[in-house]
Amino acid sequence: MLKLEQSDYWQQLQDLAQIHRNTHLRDLFARDNQRFQKYSLGVQNILFDYSKNCITDEVLSALFGLAKDMDLTGAIERMYRGDKINTTENRAVLHTALRNRGNAPLLVDGINVMEQVNDELANMRQFVDKVRSGEWLGYSGKRITDVVNIGIGGSNLGPKMVTQALSAYADNKVRVHFISNVDGVEVAEVLRPLHPEQVLFVVASKTFTTSETMTNAQTARNWLMASAFDERAVKKHFVAVSTNTKAVSEFGIDTEHMFTMWDWVGGRYSIWSAIGLPIALYLGFDQFEELLTGAYDMDQHFRDQPMANNAPVILALIGIWNSLLHGAQSLVILPYDQPLESFTDYIQQADMESNGKHVDQTGNRVNYPTSPVVWGQLGIDGQHAFYQLLHQGNVIVPADFIGSVESSTPVRGHHENLMANFFAQTEALMNGISEDQVREQLQAQGLNQQEIEALLPHKVHEGNRPSNTLLLKRVDPRTLGALIALYEHKIFTQGVVWDICSFDQWGVELGKTLAKGILSEINGESTNAHDSSTNGLIDYFKSLRA
Ligand code: F6P
Repeated sequence: MLKLEQSDYWQQLQDLAQIHRNTHLRDLFARDNQRFQKYSLGVQNILFDYSKNCITDEVLSALFGLAKDMDLTGAIERMYRGDKINTTENRAVLHTALRNRGNAPLLVDGINVMEQVNDELANMRQFVDKVRSGEWLGYSGKRITDVVNIGIGGSNLGPKMVTQALSAYADNKVRVHFISNVDGVEVAEVLRPLHPEQVLFVVASKTFTTSETMTNAQTARNWLMASAFDERAVKKHFVAVSTNTKAVSEFGIDTEHMFTMWDWVGGRYSIWSAIGLPIALYLGFDQFEELLTGAYDMDQHFRDQPMANNAPVILALIGIWNSLLHGAQSLVILPYDQPLESFTDYIQQADMESNGKHVDQTGNRVNYPTSPVVWGQLGIDGQHAFYQLLHQGNVIVPADFIGSVESSTPVRGHHENLMANFFAQTEALMNGISEDQVREQLQAQGLNQQEIEALLPHKVHEGNRPSNTLLLKRVDPRTLGALIALYEHKIFTQGVVWDICSFDQWGVELGKTLAKGILSEINGESTNAHDSSTNGLIDYFKSLRA
């Protein structure tokens, strides 16, 4: 029997799901006018409203019981104190140490990692100040105006998302650009308007072996050489963030300008490490520290608050409940805030790479869904694209709505309009519009009986679609840090309840290995090692290129 199934609360939740199969959110609200007060909480500058989910006190207490049975409290403690909870790679998981602003010592294998963290933060600050002040000069003696981050996955998504989100806080001492795709179109387009003498490349790769990143870094190096004609320029225009000193040095980057991270920092949790260097270069180091502080605030909340007042825990358990109750297999994240344009992409990696697992900690196949398919985009654009399905489609897609009270760039009349849509959508998803209401509307419009009956089923919105609302005071560095950490801990909590290892990512390896072999086939060797489809496709590709 799987560990999860041994919990009586798991069985109780299945029963509750049966009982509530036909409960409508509208009725829950009608029955209890304190529902919002009961099922919302404030944490830092974030108001978290989870009342528009089909939960009751009974459901919540069964969910908390389940989390208790799965020893969530113990798991949190084990993560924070540096136990090797990434069991398949025998590593600690300590992104919380990277933002441990209280600076309490933390021992891993007898070493106080806080000393390493603080040293690296000091190195980053020194470097950032040099670049931003103009002290750091390119090969021809000009100051750096553009920073280009070359990295992929966790070495790209975080810095890209945060620099976008906080652009209102930038002083434009340097601009930032991102190259992740090995498609040459991206590197060509990013480099085209830039001047090699004034560009600083940050090659960000924990392993420094990732093929996309290495290919792009080599192309960037060639681009620099085509103008500098001197290998010594590499040291002035390339820095690295990595754990692989040997590979960094072989590339020609001065290891003095290599920023390090540690095996206890997972790629998708690395934004708080030197992977965040582009953020600090763009915003200044103080703002980067604010981001860390926001995450630290959330870390304390997660560790110290009882479950009933713990935002990441509640967000996680509601996700589990929605998949039980509605069979929901996806989660749509809908920011109503232009700065958060890439937030969904960032959480998509954090969630799906962490919890997209099919076996439990002991290797037994699980018989319950794990990570939802996380997707979404700016909500306001989504309204004119896929919301039709959210409102009337034949699947239930739980939604997280994220918006702000204040716009980071106020333009008269816009934010009110945006937020009116934000509130309207969660209300519409929850209430829907019944047959009677539609009939009334159509009668008022003067339609005859036959017309009304024909149109009626098409216009009914059943409602009862669950959503969470995260209303920020505004998107500032500290609040953003807290928001990211909120989702990190939500993902952690779900992993604990599902009893899976959230910190490895073996599922990304197979495709990488196959691609290596296929690359040599594309570059000349014969192709017949695969199935007929893969052979046929590669042969077709090669024949047209020839
Ligand atoms: O292939 C997946 C992955 O390993 C991610 O987990 C990681 O964020 C990304 O690739 C980049 O890895 P690296 O920083 O080692 O280049």
